[in-house]
Formats: sequence, C-alpha cells, structure tokens
Amino acid sequence: VQAITYRTCGSALKVLSLEALPDPLPEAGEVRVRLHYSGVNPTDWKRRATEDPRFGEIQVPHQDGSGAIDLVGPGVDPSRVGERVWVYHASTGRAYGTAAELVCLPSSQAVRLPDHTSLQQGATLGIPYLTAAHALAAVHSAPGRILVPGGAGAVGYATVQMARRLGHEVVTTVSTDAKADIAVTAGPDHVLRYMTDEYPARLAEVAGDGFDGVIDVDMGANVSSYAPLLKPGAHIVCYASDDAPDPIPSRLLMFRNAHIDFFVVYQLPEDAIRHAVDMVEHLLATGDLPMLPIHEYRLEDTAKAHDHVQAGLVGRALIRID
Ligand SMILES: NC(=O)c1ccc[n+]([C@@H]2O[C@H](COP(=O)([O-])OP(=O)(O)OC[C@H]3O[C@@H](n4cnc5c(N)ncnc54)[C@H](OP(=O)(O)O)[C@@H]3O)[C@@H](O)[C@H]2O)c1
Repeated sequence: VQAITYRTCGSALKVLSLEALPDPLPEAGEVRVRLHYSGVNPTDWKRRATEDPRFGEIQVPHQDGSGAIDLVGPGVDPSRVGERVWVYHASTGRAYGTAAELVCLPSSQAVRLPDHTSLQQGATLGIPYLTAAHALAAVHSAPGRILVPGGAGAVGYATVQMARRLGHEVVTTVSTDAKADIAVTAGPDHVLRYMTDEYPARLAEVAGDGFDGVIDVDMGANVSSYAPLLKPGAHIVCYASDDAPDPIPSRLLMFRNAHIDFFVVYQLPEDAIRHAVDMVEHLLATGDLPMLPIHEYRLEDTAKAHDHVQAGLVGRALIRID
C-alpha cells in the first residue's frame, strides 16, 4: 500500500515521504477502508511539526478521510463490505492514519455516508464537524443567539451550518470580504468584518439583548469584545486559542454567570463522540450541504498540502488517493 509516512517530527518537506508499506489487515472489531480522500486539518501539521515524547517509530498522518470498506475483521458484520464511509480519529493514538491507500480502524470510526453525500464532502467531516457538534451540544439546547468567530474556517463554517439547522440565530465574523463571501454560504444571519473600526458597534447592534452562546476559535483574543454582550448564564466554548491570550475578563464573566468549556475533540469520552457523530449524521440526512472551497492534492504532494494549511489556506485541503 502506498502511504505518506514520517519517522521523526519536523518540517513537512524534510520528514514526509511516500513509501510502500505492507497491506494492513483489520483486527477484531475493525474495518479496512480503501480511501479516496484524506482530509488535512491544522492538527495534522501541528502534530507532525512538534516533538512528541509519545511518538513511536513511524506515523502515517491524518485523522479524517472517506472511501469504501473493503474488508472487515472478526466480529464486524460482513455486509459492511462495499459501504461508502467517512472516517474520523484514524490517527488518534494510532500509527496509521488516512494519508494512505488503505486504513484499518474500529468499525464505529467508519460511518456510513448517505448516497447523496460525495466522498469529497465525506473527507471534510471528521474533525471540523465533530468539533462543531460537540461545541453546540455544550451551549444552550433551546434555539438562541450564537456568536461564531471565524465563519470561513473549517470548524467555524461547520458550526454556523449546524447551528442554523438547530434553529439558532447565528452571527459570524471574518477578516476579509472574500471570506465573507465564503462564510455566507453556510447560512449565518449576520457576517461581520471583525478587523474594522465599526466592528464593536456592529457586534453590539446584532447582539440585541445578548448572546446565549459563543463558540470561539480564538477566545484569548476575542473574549473581551463579546463579554459585555453575553446574556446571563451564557455559555462560551473555546476550541482554540493559539497565540498568547489576552487576560480573561473574569469579573465581567462572573457577573454574567457565564460558563466556559474547553475541549479537544480527540480526548472526548466515547459517549460524547457518539453523540457528536449522531448530530453529524442527522445534519447529513437533511440533504445536500454547501462546502468550503476544496483544494485537491496528490498523495505525493502531501507536504505541500501541510504547508498550505499551516499558511492559512482558505477552504479545505484534501488528498486525492485513487
Ligand atoms: N479543540 C479541538 O478539538 C479542535 C478541533 C479542531 C480544530 N481545532 C483548532 O481550531 C483552530 C481552527 O481550526 P480550523 O480547522 O477551523 O482552521 P482553519 O480552517 O484554518 O480556520 C481558522 C479560521 O480562524 C479564523 N480566525 C483566526 N483568528 C481569529 C480571531 N481572532 N477571530 C475570528 N476568527 C479568527 C481565521 O479566519 P480570519 O482570517 O477571518 O481571521 C480562519 O478562517 C486550529 O487552531 C485548530 O488546531 C481545535
């Protein structure tokens, strides 16, 4: 099987290489998926770039992908062979991810794709949509007004889309007009340019009587701007905060009786992941979903895809494998 591997962490061009590995065989409870697409997420380049004491001898990168089951291990219903699936968490705690022609993983991590959903879209689902689903499960369950900074990013876009389907009123933010044109296709009620002088006034205007929830890509940088606009008991969910954070306005948040959740999707308990997968399946069942712009790369160009994602590629990077 052709696969992208690395044996030490470092820069993409230096450590990633294409090599032939023995065909993997599914163990008990596992399926083997012949992949058509492998999705590249920020976590993939971060993990590859960062020295990790838990690193084994070899790693095939990438968590997400799509394809068809071609073999099942003991204990898995043989009728799953031939099923079109999207896969998630393929390289969480495992050496062999989706940047390969074949991947083996627990049967539950290969989820049936509806007939109307393309394999391309299937490879965009895993991390972004499970993160969005879990974040939305953490904010108010009753429809409310939600702020989603970064609506043209992978998680932000998925969050806007899912939040609208759940009946929330959604305000999202972007840095440029080009990103506004992209974010609007997810169906938000308002798209605001957050790097403008008018932003604070516009945000206060659309906040009306306040936000019930915020699902934030950069809480450290953003929390001061929306803290005064939260309703009592509002939920903030922080799934990223990469740069040195600004101080959290603790007193202001205390007087809003605010709740703050932090999480990483790879470390959620099994029941939370199951719930998130159910939410994604429910969303897919509603019909065709718009997607972020797709950029396809060949397997041998995976290093280029990593570098582009690291540089802030707008849209989704997918490795086309067939
Ligand atoms: N906790 C978890 O489980 C989890 C899961 C998935 C991803 N993540 C992390 O979440 C981050 C985003 O992932 P992604 O796949 O969505 O990446 P992405 O597709 O590159 O999107 C990131 C978006 O964030 C926006 N952004 C950056 N700073 C912002 C700010 N201060 N305010 C508003 N928007 C801002 C950028 O748009 P603008 O140009 O408009 O600013 C960009 O569109 C990454 O750091 C990733 O590692 C965490």
